Parts: sequence; structure tokens; C-alpha cells
Amino acid sequence: MSILSQSVTIIGTGSYAPANIVSNDDMAKIVDTSDEWIQTRSGIRARRFAAEGEHTSDMACVAAERALEAAGIERSDIDLIIVATMTPDMPTPSTACLVQSKMGLSNVTSFDLQAACSGFVYALSVANCMLLSGNFKQALVIGAEKMSSILDFNDRTTCVLFGDGAAAAILAVTPRTDTIGILGSLGGADGSNPSLLHQPGGGSAMPATLESIQTHQHFLKMNGKEIFKSAVRVMAQASMDLIQQHGYATEDLDLVIPHQANMRIIESLAKRLNIPLEKFHNNLDRYGNTSAASVPIALDEAVRAGRIQSGDLVLLVAFGAGLTWASALIKWQ
Ligand code: ACO
Repeated sequence: MSILSQSVTIIGTGSYAPANIVSNDDMAKIVDTSDEWIQTRSGIRARRFAAEGEHTSDMACVAAERALEAAGIERSDIDLIIVATMTPDMPTPSTACLVQSKMGLSNVTSFDLQAACSGFVYALSVANCMLLSGNFKQALVIGAEKMSSILDFNDRTTCVLFGDGAAAAILAVTPRTDTIGILGSLGGADGSNPSLLHQPGGGSAMPATLESIQTHQHFLKMNGKEIFKSAVRVMAQASMDLIQQHGYATEDLDLVIPHQANMRIIESLAKRLNIPLEKFHNNLDRYGNTSAASVPIALDEAVRAGRIQSGDLVLLVAFGAGLTWASALIKWQ
């Protein structure tokens, strides 16, 4: 709970999904899979893939513009940009700097944050702290991914699960009221087994070589079964700890926005938390796993659909490569 004299609220959200809808049947033309297998194992029916030449920063900018419009503020009011992504346009400069430039902004503190699928919730937490420090007033927090750029379209165990997209939230400092805005957040990580979900090539440990490319080292590799087990456990813990820290019980929650990786993971989480599935906002049937974009896309959808009303208690919870996990509790303004 904030001990400072101000709190931070989300004053606008926006999202963007590429126009290209790719169905499970389309994926079955690429790898040996079926609509039935993908739907039963994951709940995914379709995903979006970015167009040729459409980059993470481009998707991020559209989402940001929509969030600005929803917030009703000028772009020049933004003094902090954080982009959560594991698929930046390039290693450097950061996608946040590219977004800044494409939006026609200058002299705005801008950086990327990499916590895989937990990235947006991590970024929300970092932005909240930076705003509460008093040094910033309005932050643009984005989750954006072009997962199709790191998918191995020869590996049916991963390529059917992910999609592209972006979403943004505008955070603003408001005069203190203890019960409004971002009440708190929790984050955690366990780096002891990085190969559970990793992209080995392309960093300083394995720069691109002919061999690294020929052996598909620049693509995402995943041990789905192990990730599944950890996902439910860490998301349940991050949810319970945060809710209890703030003096609430799970039945006080109006809506849960979970990371959209697998419907079976979400169902298991709901069961473990003893929260009815109807209180979860899900869209992975249409988008697949969009990594850091997944939670904010679902959040924006829920806001625009009127599923979140003033005074609602909303829980965001995510997990991802690292392994990382994070939760945030928000009393909607
Ligand atoms: N189509 C058809 N068959 C397939 C496919 C496919 N696309 N993929 C795997 N199979 C086969 C396997 O080869 C295996 O066959 P076998 O029994 O003959 O060996 C069979 O289906 C079962 O495979 P499992 O891996 O046991 O399937 P499981 O029920 O565990 O489901 C899945 C796999 C969907 C990946 C699941 O484990 C999962 O969702 N795990 C969590 C993954 C996740 O959340 N990742 C995102 C993390 S977030 C981030 O940071 C990016």
C-alpha cells in the first residue's frame, strides 16, 4: 500500500491486433496439427500475425494512440514510456525509443523491460513506483510483441500457441485517495532453469552464425509440460499473496485478467483460487498467447466492453519465461 501522498490510476487503455487472422486450420497447412488438437489442448482457435514490414514498434504506436485518445490527454503530456517486450524491433535502440520517435515525441524517459509474458505487469509496477517518486506525471506503458518473428514454423509444439499484438495503458498521478488506482503489485522470478522457455540464439552468448541459423537457435523453444505445472502454482501464489496483503479475499474481486497462455491453465487457476471462471476475462481463443501484450489486450477489451466499472477490484496476473510472474491489484477509478 502506498505510504506516499499520491496514488496512480489507469486513465486510458488501447490495443491493436494485426489484420491477418490465422485460424487453426491455416496452421494445419504449415505443421502436422489440427484444429481439434489445438482447441482441446490450449483453447486457441485463431491468432493474428503481423504483416510483412509491420514491426513491434508499429503495433505499439497504434495501441498507444488509442490509449491516448481514451485518456483524453495530449501526447506531449507523456513523460515516461516503458515498452514490455521480448520481441523488440532490434537489440538496440530500445523499442520504447523507436515508439517515442514514431509518435513525434522527444526528451521523454524511454526504455524496454524484458520479463517475457509477465512484462506488462512488471512494467505497470515499475511505472507506478516511478510516478510515485514524484519525478514523472503521466506514463505510457505498453506490452507489444511480434511473436511470429521468433516462432519456429517447423515446431508444432510451439508455433500454434502464439500470436502478435500490442496494448497500452496511460498511468497518471492523482491526488491521494487510499482506495483508488493501483493498490499494489508483486513480482517474482526463478532463473534456475532458463531452458524451460528460451530463445538461445541472437544474444551475446550465441551471436548469429551460419550454424546457429541452420540449427534454429533463434527461435523460441519450450518445455510446455513443465511450464504448465509452474504457471498455475506461481500465478495462484502471486494472486493470493497480493489480495491478502491488501486485506481482501478472493470473493471481493470483480474481475481477473490472467495471462492468456492456455485455457486449461486459466481453468486450473480459477479452481485453485476458488473464483468462478465467469470472473475471468479471456480472449486467447481469438489471439493465442501474445506474451507481454496478452494482459493489456484483455484489459483494454474488458474496459471497452464495460466489464470494468468505477470502484471495481481488478486483479492482473501473469507468468512467463524466466520463469517470471507478477500480479497487480487495481481499484478502478
Ligand atoms: N498438434 C498435434 N499434436 C501435437 C502438437 C500439435 N500442435 N504439439 C504437440 N503434439 C503432440 C505431442 O508430440 C505429443 O505426442 P506423443 O504423445 O505422440 O508424444 C502429444 O501431442 C501430447 O503432447 P504434450 O506436450 O504432452 O501436450 P500437452 O497436453 O502438455 O499440451 C501444451 C501441450 C499446450 C504446450 C501445454 O503443455 C501448455 O500449454 N503448456 C504451457 C505452455 C505455456 O503456457 N507457454 C507460454 C509461457 S508464457 C511466455 O513467457 C512466452
